[in-house]
Amino acid sequence: MLELDSIDTIDNAELSDILQSCFKHLEIAATQRKSPIHTPVVASIGTNQIPNQRVMVLREFNPTHNSLRFHTDARSLKVQEIGHNDNMSVLAYDPDKRVQLKLYGKGEIIEGGDEANAAWANTDTMGRRCYLCEPGSGTTIAKPTSGLTDDLQSRRPTIEESENGRQNFAILLITIHQIDWMFLSSKGNRAASFKRSGKDWNSNWLIP
Ligand SMILES: Cc1cc2nc3c(=O)[nH]c(=O)nc-3n(C[C@H](O)[C@H](O)[C@H](O)COP(=O)(O)O)c2cc1C
Repeated sequence: MLELDSIDTIDNAELSDILQSCFKHLEIAATQRKSPIHTPVVASIGTNQIPNQRVMVLREFNPTHNSLRFHTDARSLKVQEIGHNDNMSVLAYDPDKRVQLKLYGKGEIIEGGDEANAAWANTDTMGRRCYLCEPGSGTTIAKPTSGLTDDLQSRRPTIEESENGRQNFAILLITIHQIDWMFLSSKGNRAASFKRSGKDWNSNWLIP
């Protein structure tokens, strides 16, 4: 794959090379905790029509299905919002690579079935602890607390204890249909947009 790290290589690249590099960024981001794209901003549309954003950990990018997998609390506000309106966008910037990605897609909440069970099975007990909070994420409370018991706050739950969190665990799957790529440069920025129709991506260079 072309290393698209300078204006010269980008100006000699094809749009398909840029799209391939976007996919590579996402694959690396999902697997490398230190990548700035590992924790992108995920936006949904609030039930009041106001955009709502939050940072989330990108767990997986599936290039075959063009999907991003995140994990979340099934009781959280975002789950309600996505139930009302599944239009979503994801924003990430890698300052080392000087690349911004704006992704647009449809969100789906998956609480049961093989996929959610497998994701839960691969979540370690510290990760599972978030799902043991009571009451659920976003609930108004009288004083600051995590929602965990004092005991659990200072330790890792046992595997048996952690299983109580399964009922609160959900996958957020976002299937992407548009990628807006931008490369930041003092020699002039570059941008391109990719819109998916089935398996095909319709590609255009843009004025950044
Ligand atoms: C670095 C970081 C990583 C986070 N990762 C997740 C995550 O993977 N899943 C999640 O639901 N919330 C995550 N959060 C918390 C969300 O940003 C948000 O506060 C929470 O999910 C409630 O959002 P909501 O009320 O819009 O549903 C993370 C926050 C930070 C700062």
